[in-house]
Amino acid sequence: VLYTGGKRDLLGKQVLISTGGTREHLDPVRFIGNPSTGKMGLALAQAAKHRGAKVVLVHAPLTEPIPPDIQAISVVSAAEMRQVMLSYFSAADLVIMAAAVADVKPADHTSEKLPKAQLPTALALEPVPDILAELGQRKQSHQQLIGFAAQTGDIVKPALEKLNVKNLDAIAANPIDQPNVGFASDTNQAIFINKQGRQESVQPCSKLELAHALLNFIGS
Ligand code: CTP
Ligand code: CA
Repeated sequence: VLYTGGKRDLLGKQVLISTGGTREHLDPVRFIGNPSTGKMGLALAQAAKHRGAKVVLVHAPLTEPIPPDIQAISVVSAAEMRQVMLSYFSAADLVIMAAAVADVKPADHTSEKLPKAQLPTALALEPVPDILAELGQRKQSHQQLIGFAAQTGDIVKPALEKLNVKNLDAIAANPIDQPNVGFASDTNQAIFINKQGRQESVQPCSKLELAHALLNFIGS
């Protein structure tokens, strides 16, 4: 109510959201990860729910509880997130990829813990499939697909490129070199860009406010 004036513009819609940072394990106790805590995706889930949507949240490990009445599916690796996202994708009207997905994973991994003396001195890496790009290829005309881009320096140019290459309807670019933005922060700021080239800059605010601002942007 606070941010929407009671707007129920997502009533009857299926919204699929990914969040959190995926983990690419080398062994059970060591992984390649990133600083994402999943708060932005949790805020988006809460905002979409508030506006009447049925929400499915696919999340890598989180540091905060999941709001009630949200169907949550827990994953660890990018490969697991990809499987779950692909299986829920066709039923979704709106898909928001807020997860910080790995770009690479260790080429070798073991289910047994490696003693430190046996750890490799160099790590061979292999690429992880780009989930958002894959969803962009499968997107039907009734579906909206939204990405995030955490950037330093010039945030608009790389975000625009990702919007086009991944066939998105809109992207939220976060300037993570600014204070109180992005990973693990309770606040965020962004420039939203849609495929028609419309841009909207949102000044620093809570992640819930930013979530509502993004839902307003893509609905307007
Ligand atoms: N993404 C994804 N799968 C990946 C990597 C990224 O679905 N393997 C998604 C993210 O969830 C985000 C968007 O793609 O919504 C942009 O992520 P980002 O890391 O900014 O872009 P990349 O294409 O990975 O490019 P780079 O890391 O080189 O900037
Ligand atoms: Ca990346």
